Amino acid sequence: MNTETYLKSLIDRLEQTRALSREEWASLIRGRTPGLSEYLFERARTIRIRHYGRDIYIRGLIEFTSWCRNDCYYCGLRKSNHGADRYRLTKEEILSCCENGYHLGFRTFVLQGGEDCWYTDEYMEDLISSIRRAWPDCAITLSLGEKSYESYRRFALAGADRYLLRHETFDEAHYRKLHPPRMSAAHRQQCLRDLKELGYQTGTGFMVGSPYQTPENLADDMLFIKNLNPQMVGIGPFIPHHGTPFAGKPAGTLELTLFLLGLIRLMLPRVLLPATTALGTIAPDGRERGILAGANVVMPNLSPVRVREKYLLYDNKLCTGDEAAESLAQLDARMAAVGYRLVTARGDSLNI
Ligand code: 5AD
Repeated sequence: MNTETYLKSLIDRLEQTRALSREEWASLIRGRTPGLSEYLFERARTIRIRHYGRDIYIRGLIEFTSWCRNDCYYCGLRKSNHGADRYRLTKEEILSCCENGYHLGFRTFVLQGGEDCWYTDEYMEDLISSIRRAWPDCAITLSLGEKSYESYRRFALAGADRYLLRHETFDEAHYRKLHPPRMSAAHRQQCLRDLKELGYQTGTGFMVGSPYQTPENLADDMLFIKNLNPQMVGIGPFIPHHGTPFAGKPAGTLELTLFLLGLIRLMLPRVLLPATTALGTIAPDGRERGILAGANVVMPNLSPVRVREKYLLYDNKLCTGDEAAESLAQLDARMAAVGYRLVTARGDSLNI
């Protein structure tokens, strides 16, 4: 059997059994070709349409603080980046983002921010319960980084339904190349287990093409995700930020990101899979191509316009045009052009 035939048989087996070994994952990722990718995307689209039809769920992203106590080597919000222009939104500003979002058709609000102690647990509980009371038909998603079990529990009791926390990379040695010593892969993974235990619909994920990443690292990421069985998986290419230690590192590619989206769709057929902002940033048609590789979620920006340019995780991050929540009609037109449509539903995962 030649290599291409063997790798195609791995894709078929992945579709049938939803699992591969670490060595198989690494060979498939390392040996991918344009032909295999097309074959994979066709299978991924069929599975996505079987479970979700041609619907694309929308999430309104509210980036409410750009302050962060962490110092991740890749992120523009890292505390050592003194060039970053920092801001915090008040409760009133966040509620008015939700109000605006509700009228635009959003039924999920994602509160995302750096790890910012200014927002105490009491502050967050009050904010979450206010959103819960005002929009009882909406899902509240948090993305606030690593917190204690007790904090996660309090936020859930206040009304939060979902939590996004990318594991970033499973392998401890690789994790340490991307983060300062006070952070660890083990702690991040523990947070994810806590979130699942507390009943959150949980999202994890990783950057594609982060510095020093190998196909074996990606194989470990796939095995970890399979084992965690999250409701959502967010992946996007690493893109350098000029004010970080990784400023000169090469960006991850569209091509590998799309291939991994297709693989994740085959491994977890009912998972929620966003075509992320980073994917839209590295290629003008990145999000459409993400949808055509098996993605089924987009997360437009609902933050106040005056702060959007300040939440700069990486250089040239999209925040206007079709990325903006106000331009849902344009985004819908782009998705319609490739055969899909945006829907207003809350879009809960089918595997809760
Ligand atoms: N390039 C791409 N993604 C990044 N993130 C942070 N910095 C970058 C970067 N330079 C991602 C991380 C984080 C999410 C909010 O953004 O994976 O979890």
